[in-house]
Amino acid sequence: MRKAVLVTGASSGVGLALCKRLLEEDHELHLCLACRNRSKAEAVRAALLASRPLAEVSIVQVDVSDLQSVFRASRELKQRFQRLDYVYLNAGIMPNPQLNIKALFSGLFSRKVIHMFSTAEGLLTQEDKITADGLQEVFETNVFGHFILIQELAPLLCHSDSPSQLIWTSSRNARKSNFCLEDIQHSRGQEPYSSSKYAVDLLSVAVNRNFNSRGLYSSVVCPGTMVTNMTCGILPPFVWTLLMPIIWLLRFFANAFTLTPYNGTEALVWLFHQKPESLNPLTKYLSATTGFGSNYVMTQKMDLDEDTAEKFYQSLLELEKHVRATIQKRNH
Ligand SMILES: NC(=O)c1ccc[n+]([C@@H]2O[C@H](COP(=O)([O-])OP(=O)(O)OC[C@H]3O[C@@H](n4cnc5c(N)ncnc54)[C@H](OP(=O)(O)O)[C@@H]3O)[C@@H](O)[C@H]2O)c1
Repeated sequence: MRKAVLVTGASSGVGLALCKRLLEEDHELHLCLACRNRSKAEAVRAALLASRPLAEVSIVQVDVSDLQSVFRASRELKQRFQRLDYVYLNAGIMPNPQLNIKALFSGLFSRKVIHMFSTAEGLLTQEDKITADGLQEVFETNVFGHFILIQELAPLLCHSDSPSQLIWTSSRNARKSNFCLEDIQHSRGQEPYSSSKYAVDLLSVAVNRNFNSRGLYSSVVCPGTMVTNMTCGILPPFVWTLLMPIIWLLRFFANAFTLTPYNGTEALVWLFHQKPESLNPLTKYLSATTGFGSNYVMTQKMDLDEDTAEKFYQSLLELEKHVRATIQKRNH
């Protein structure tokens, strides 16, 4: 039987490169592109099928920052699929990023320069906003919309006979210091992106704890730093082009500069081939590229504890109850 793979944010960057690479690995996959923009998704579907005609490529329209859209997409998926073998939770945003020039210059002349460029620690702030669901947009897009999606898709994901895998696109920028259990949406801080990616790491650990016995496993990945639509929101494409010679040099010291979405998907593709039961739930898988351009996968122990992960998971369940009740009221 064809393996069924759902990829959120398949219309560009990491998601698009991942779809191409997965079809190179298995020509007969059923790949479902979960995208908010149908015409972009149609164009991706046509391009994928042109090079891999044996594959089945379908589309589900979903905006993960809109819960009504997530519920609608989940209902559609449950009608179309018996099971999903892999779900790549990859769609993400970093809205209005501001580069902290002072931190950049002081970092440039410190011993932390490589670390700073590898993780963007302290370099970026973002301006968040509130969605129609009344949630912080970065939190809803990067974490909560995906959380609701997997809650809704549990019947397609939980089979004790053969496991399914969730693979989250997290980041090296996920930092404990930016996350707070009392403000899980990061409504009071200036680094909602970092907070949301730390939340993804916590959620993955909690999913393993609560769902492994039902045949569902979860892992997190950092694709490294690449030039995509997201990073072109930080610096315009021509600046990235000007910086390339410096970045190629830096790559001899910092393997996080994967630079292209193809390279960035190395860890996501590697996980596609792993037995999920054999993976350590506290490990993050990092795509890395050497100075000579070879790709490989590194592992990193996540900076978190399982108690916090469980508390965060319980907060998400509480928020889910609250949001469902509000939506029901609104619809009556
Ligand atoms: N680029 C990097 O250096 C880097 C580093 C670490 C982690 N990441 C992570 O990698 C993932 C992919 O990002 P990327 O770099 O490939 O950027 P990208 O090219 O901007 O891709 C983001 C994808 O997410 C989709 N998306 C955004 N908001 C959505 C929503 N509300 N509902 C559904 N889809 C939505 C976008 O759809 P549209 O095409 O419709 O906009 C697009 O397909 C993100 O989770 C990001 O945090 C990136």
